[in-house]
Amino acid sequence: MANRSVDTAAAASARPHQSEGDVNFSARRKAWAAENINSHSADLLARDAKAFLHQSVSTPCLNTIKGAKGAYIFDGQGRKYLDFHGNNVHHIGYGHPRLKEAITRQMEELPFAPRRFTCEPAVELAEKLKEISPGDLSKVLFATGGSDAIEMALKVARAKTGRFKTVSFWDAFHGAGFGASSIGGEQLFRGQAIGPLLSGTEHVAPFACYRCPYGYEVDAAGQPNLNLCKTTCANMVRYVSEKEGNVAAVIAEPARAVPYNPPKGFWKAIRQACNDAGALLIFDEIPTGLGKTGRMFACEHDDVTPDILVMGKALGGGILPIAATLCHPDLDVLGDYAIGHYTHEKNPITTRAALTTINIIEDEGLVENAEKVGAYALERMRDMKSRYELIGDVRGRGFLLGIDLVEDRVSKKGANDAAEEILYRAFDAGLSFKTTMGNVLTLTPPLITTREQMDFALDILESAIKDVSSRKGH
Ligand SMILES: Cc1ncc(COP(=O)(O)O)c(C=O)c1O
Repeated sequence: MANRSVDTAAAASARPHQSEGDVNFSARRKAWAAENINSHSADLLARDAKAFLHQSVSTPCLNTIKGAKGAYIFDGQGRKYLDFHGNNVHHIGYGHPRLKEAITRQMEELPFAPRRFTCEPAVELAEKLKEISPGDLSKVLFATGGSDAIEMALKVARAKTGRFKTVSFWDAFHGAGFGASSIGGEQLFRGQAIGPLLSGTEHVAPFACYRCPYGYEVDAAGQPNLNLCKTTCANMVRYVSEKEGNVAAVIAEPARAVPYNPPKGFWKAIRQACNDAGALLIFDEIPTGLGKTGRMFACEHDDVTPDILVMGKALGGGILPIAATLCHPDLDVLGDYAIGHYTHEKNPITTRAALTTINIIEDEGLVENAEKVGAYALERMRDMKSRYELIGDVRGRGFLLGIDLVEDRVSKKGANDAAEEILYRAFDAGLSFKTTMGNVLTLTPPLITTREQMDFALDILESAIKDVSSRKGH
């Protein structure tokens, strides 16, 4: 086979924009690993790097993990981290005893449901999702991952409308499959290397008030002036839908993971634009569903119901992989075809896990906790912003929170180096989280997080921000 290796300088200049956070080739990461990784972990990391195909934000890995319990993870060196990332799967905390017990019991009772058979937990879960979701989303399909669930939503939208075009946002992530990558807007997943994507997947600039792609400024409190901007970002969705014509669906996350909240009235305007264009509205609530933003679903903040709502991640309680595509009953139009006839579609164990997870979230009042402790955190973050120029903006809802670090508040240039330094300092102090777009400290704690744990995390971040700020003379 031809030698396909490329020199590292050329590779670095050809690297796509790193929208997904810390990268696996930075000098600081290398230095941190040299100081913190013991020989046993180093061996495992080397075997991992040898055995797995390398890919951005995955392999090579930074560290090894040996334990996960409640809100905490434990690395291969025995160090404990409060996990404010958790890939958004850990809403109920890792290894919830009630979930483990339910899964074990289900394994004893019925381990699998082959084709042509349904089972109690699968049907019960479908009924439960109808009960907790907004509007009339009463028909469902299950998959093992969010990306597959998105693909099913695309198929249903095409079948219902007889159209194939979509409108979605640049910078969004909707999964790694070809359909999901096509509607996604991140170079990482759409790079030239993988060749042509689906046609007809149009993109528009997303809402991002602090760094408005249309050039409008926010006020001192970080709020957009809607009289001035007239929600241009929403108008552009309507404009592109009308110009393109034949759009099957507009697909987006109701609250963006960066994080960015939609400006007031945004989703109502999009809902109307979809209705006028005969397009469906699909909400990707894979990370935000089940309470992350302090409501069971993020779209409830905006009082807008989609035609299809996609969920995943936390649905399996942080133990098992399961995702769901919830549809309005009018979309039950593909009965003669297979949409997503996945092997584990009606798996009794994954569906039992999802059912139990929802029951735990309800019984323990976790959505309310995310709303309450999240509001407290945002207040503290606002106070931090008033004291450190390094912080350009703080934003979020519930437990989807972000601290946007800037070189200066006028240019708003992302302070990527400061963000990376703070990330590694946080690891040292026992806090794990993710940076987004290189400069946004993105905090997605589990819904079980207490006010004390939130203070522990924000104390770590504040101390690191203070040190970096004083060095920069801010
Ligand atoms: C908004 C969003 N959509 C889709 C996905 C894809 O989900 P999965 O990784 O389960 O395929 C993710 C995963 O991070 C996501 O954050």
